[in-house]
Amino acid sequence: MASISVEPCTFALFGALGDLALRKLFPALYQLDRADLLHADTRVLALAREAGSVDEHLASIEAHLQEFVPAGQIEAPVLQRFLARLSYLHVDFLKAEDYQALAERVGSDSQLIAYFATPAAVYGGICENLDKAGLSARTRVVLEKPIGHDLESSRRVNDAVAQFFPENRVYRIDHYLGKETVQNLIALRFANSLFETQWNQNSISHVEITVAEKVGIEGRWGYFDKAGQLRDMIQNHLLQLLCLIAMDPPSDLSADSIRDEKVKVLKALAPIKGEGLSTQVVRGQYIAGYSEGKPVPGYLEEDNANAQSDTETFVALRADIRNWRWAGVPFYLRTGKRMPQKLSQIVIHFKETPHYIFAPEQRLQIGNKLIIRLQPDEGISLRVMTKEQGLDKGMQLRSGPLQLNFSDTWRSARIPDAYERLLLEVMRGNQNLFVRKDEIEYAWKWCDQLIAGWKQSGDAPKPYAAGSWGPMSSIALITRDGRSWYGDI
Ligand code: BG6
Repeated sequence: MASISVEPCTFALFGALGDLALRKLFPALYQLDRADLLHADTRVLALAREAGSVDEHLASIEAHLQEFVPAGQIEAPVLQRFLARLSYLHVDFLKAEDYQALAERVGSDSQLIAYFATPAAVYGGICENLDKAGLSARTRVVLEKPIGHDLESSRRVNDAVAQFFPENRVYRIDHYLGKETVQNLIALRFANSLFETQWNQNSISHVEITVAEKVGIEGRWGYFDKAGQLRDMIQNHLLQLLCLIAMDPPSDLSADSIRDEKVKVLKALAPIKGEGLSTQVVRGQYIAGYSEGKPVPGYLEEDNANAQSDTETFVALRADIRNWRWAGVPFYLRTGKRMPQKLSQIVIHFKETPHYIFAPEQRLQIGNKLIIRLQPDEGISLRVMTKEQGLDKGMQLRSGPLQLNFSDTWRSARIPDAYERLLLEVMRGNQNLFVRKDEIEYAWKWCDQLIAGWKQSGDAPKPYAAGSWGPMSSIALITRDGRSWYGDI
């Protein structure tokens, strides 16, 4: 039996035949079952409103499991056990009468987890119907992103949910918070005095956060075009990473202590406006180019594209945090589709020593760097300066890594997908890894002013070739400050 105790529940997945549920959520539940982390009495209830028979839908869920769980990890007895937990119910999410059947399936005393993998516009309606069916008092609701597309619309969604569910039963997903290395960032910062004493403007010169994707829009043009890279990635994933790096140490690991500290960072972000809109931010849109040596179309030539769109597929920006810890330490954020590789990493650049005593030509490499790699090859590496070995080398310096590669170090352990951890934490009733209402709202507030500035300027996004690191001006953004993006080739 697993060492973490998890209460039994009915896990109801609204939007069970959608892409997210089929690719990520069912495989994550299967993996939890495989790791013995689901209580024997836990049931999984797939809810959708698509036409088709129950048998067809269950067969489709099973087929997707076979496809999305890595080969070798489908174990026949586990699969059988998992499928025995699974049932399907046809529900029109906005029809109150359809929830009676749901209430019957849940039974009178089971804890219900209601995961909304549906458009946010129906979250309020689902909550109301859960309440009418007498289920709300024993339900935790899980909300997928995007929650709104600006501050006002996100408030509408949050307020609609709050009419029926108090904040301590609302779990807002940002799947980056479930990634192994993001968890490790907290351990690294707060379990090692070595880092924490250096974690400020006295020792750190700047921070880089890159989340690059090799893929383009992959059949999601309609959704993506209304959002763009700022709303899709910066408002949530990159700002969450920034908060975890920049926040003060919380007084304990409780959800609210951590979230209080993150909110302080969001409130301290300097708005980007006026001249900053042209010097501190770059919007880009990919044009045709190459990915893995093969020609690929530009954003405006993708399937179902509107050739007039000025939605950005790339953003680079310099964020400044107005507080004592980070005064004068820029955070450079960069994220885009159709980049040369899939890479998510944070690089903390430490300042040079106060007085330099080595040969002048070696000075450029000086400065320790802490590299936190989220994907691929999860791990943490600290680049330190040492002396080249050998009698004939004199005091020749070299920058080398002190390295902790998670898959090499813990060979036996599979690195779990972010959703596995997040689903488990909901079942355990632990809100640490979920985003509180005010965090979402402060993040929107900061992004909204940026979007308003873009709108006012009317500037089109800068083109960049698919397979490149973004528009040239994103390089100028950082070189203007006498720096460069770490490791770009
Ligand atoms: C999602 C975005 O939140 O994150 C997608 O909507 C993006 O556009 C995805 O592709 C990236 O997640 P990951 O875990 O693959 O880095």
